[in-house]
Amino acid sequence: MTKKTKWQRAARRGLALACLAVAFAGCDEAKNEAAAVTLDERQATLYEHACKTCHEDPATGAPQTHDTAAWAPRIAKGEDVLLDNIVNGFNGMPPLGQCIECDADDFISLTMFMAAPAHNETGDSQ
Ligand code: HEC
Repeated sequence: MTKKTKWQRAARRGLALACLAVAFAGCDEAKNEAAAVTLDERQATLYEHACKTCHEDPATGAPQTHDTAAWAPRIAKGEDVLLDNIVNGFNGMPPLGQCIECDADDFISLTMFMAAPAHNETGDSQ
């Protein structure tokens, strides 16, 4: 699999990300699409080992998982900017979110998961 394919896949996910942004902006129709995002087992593990450390600890200053209000302005930046900030780091957000095994596709999925409302989470605790 080439890098390009991965980025293309990420771009497709980006469409869903855009829907999410529209939903946050108050579009009722799109709101229904801002349903819970489920991670597959591998991504759930990546989440547990990396993102969760900060994105479920308000003391870090990170936008908290499922805090849709905190995520709305970030999602509105668009996928390119978000990916760039994940890969290169952004203030307290470390480069790659401390996940060296994550690819672009994973970063988008993980971000969508965190930005979506709480519901059927990873299925582990609570
Ligand atoms: C060491 C703590 C830490 C870890 C681990 C971490 N983050 Fe973050 N993240 C932050 C903080 C703090 C911010 C807020 C940065 C700011 O806005 O100043 C942030 C912000 C973000 C943003 C928004 C960036 C923006 O442009 O507004 C995204 C997207 C993000 N994180 C994704 C992830 C993903 C995906 C993972 C796991 C692969 C992850 N983070 C892991 C601390 C972390």
